[in-house]
Amino acid sequence: MERKKFIKAGLGAVLAGTLPYSWGKPKNGDTSIDTIDVSNWEKIREAFPLKPGLHFLNNGTMGITPFPVIESVNNAFTQIAENAAYPHHNKELETLLAQTVGCLPEEIGITKNVSEGINHIAWGVPLKPGDEVIITQHEHIGGCAAWMRRSQLEGIKVKAVPIGSSAEECLSIIANAISPDTKVIAVPHIPCTIGQILPVKEICALARKKGIISVLDGAHPLGMITFNLHEIDCDYYAGCFHKWMLGPIGSGWLYIKKDRIEQTKITHVAAYSVNAFDMSAQPPEMDTPILEASRYAYGTFSGPHIAGCKTALEWYQHVGPERIEKRVKQLNSYLRGTLENAGNKVQILNANEAQSQGGQLGFKILKGLNKDSKSQQGFVSFARKNGLILRYVGENKIDCIRVSTHYYNTESEIDRLFELLKKYAWD
Ligand SMILES: Cc1ncc(COP(=O)(O)O)c(C=O)c1O
Repeated sequence: MERKKFIKAGLGAVLAGTLPYSWGKPKNGDTSIDTIDVSNWEKIREAFPLKPGLHFLNNGTMGITPFPVIESVNNAFTQIAENAAYPHHNKELETLLAQTVGCLPEEIGITKNVSEGINHIAWGVPLKPGDEVIITQHEHIGGCAAWMRRSQLEGIKVKAVPIGSSAEECLSIIANAISPDTKVIAVPHIPCTIGQILPVKEICALARKKGIISVLDGAHPLGMITFNLHEIDCDYYAGCFHKWMLGPIGSGWLYIKKDRIEQTKITHVAAYSVNAFDMSAQPPEMDTPILEASRYAYGTFSGPHIAGCKTALEWYQHVGPERIEKRVKQLNSYLRGTLENAGNKVQILNANEAQSQGGQLGFKILKGLNKDSKSQQGFVSFARKNGLILRYVGENKIDCIRVSTHYYNTESEIDRLFELLKKYAWD
């Protein structure tokens, strides 16, 4: 059934009071990747079950999943239940991901989210009281909480620095913050606050030159921009599938550079972390954990999620990584241009240079907020009531509005955002 017809079918079902299995999904339609036309962005948008009338400009919080990914998760659940098939761990997902991000499969461990990956890293790197970790003032709690907790428990020092208004300034702020006590630089590749891309290759080179461990919070880049971990040359990286990669919610990954795995302490171990144990020996015996990042993925895991992540990576290749990056950035430039039309009524917080620009932008309304208790956060609620979803950034007193532009978004959704802005603040 064609998209137009199945939308009608969906609407009919809603009007009649019964929802179809999934909004807009063709009842007998094929959702396998190869059969979906990705020749233009309008067609690609049809691969998403997002309800008509909902404008989702908040992919930075959570990606929406396309039909093939949803189907893949559903099918895996069904097959496991039908066949009583325990989802044994294999390396397919690690291998596919390693090819995508430019590293070895054994340097990848699957996690449930970014926070889990950051925790494995923050508790695993060797540090003693008084050692210093440099983070930014633009951290998500998931990127910094483990370092802060280690500071509370073990007396390491945490120093938070601002991010600059250009890549060059970001680098020099970090360079100037380094002290003889600095042992770790742990910064986001793309901060959640305004989405400015940080010069991570240069930051990691600086760290390496000074014998400092580099850790990147990579919640956002995968699925938005292309990158190669061996070229960035960081020691650790924690990412996820559930934002820009549009994979199942609650699926993440962890990268540990091969020669650092052994030095990274591991406290949580179970099946898959160790190869063998013998409780009949006295004292009982157990191997030391395997020297692969997958040792951090222990015990039974969600087979359906793993299947969905693989499909998300395949879908990503099907649409085209370079093409996605271009589209995401093009929409973001369109957004910047649109906001710039408001002149000094808004302030864009991101650096205005191509290398720092990704698929997110943070801005503040400068004029029109004083009457009727209006606020940046108020605008996000107002937009939500009008079917347009944004993210308010209240963290660290930043107090701004964040807009995410993924490839499934459109210029007309950005125009709509601007219309709402005018109505809320200036009309
Ligand atoms: C930069 C950044 N780091 C970490 C996180 C936490 O990610 P998760 O919810 O996958 O643990 C987020 C979530 O939005 C984020 O934006």
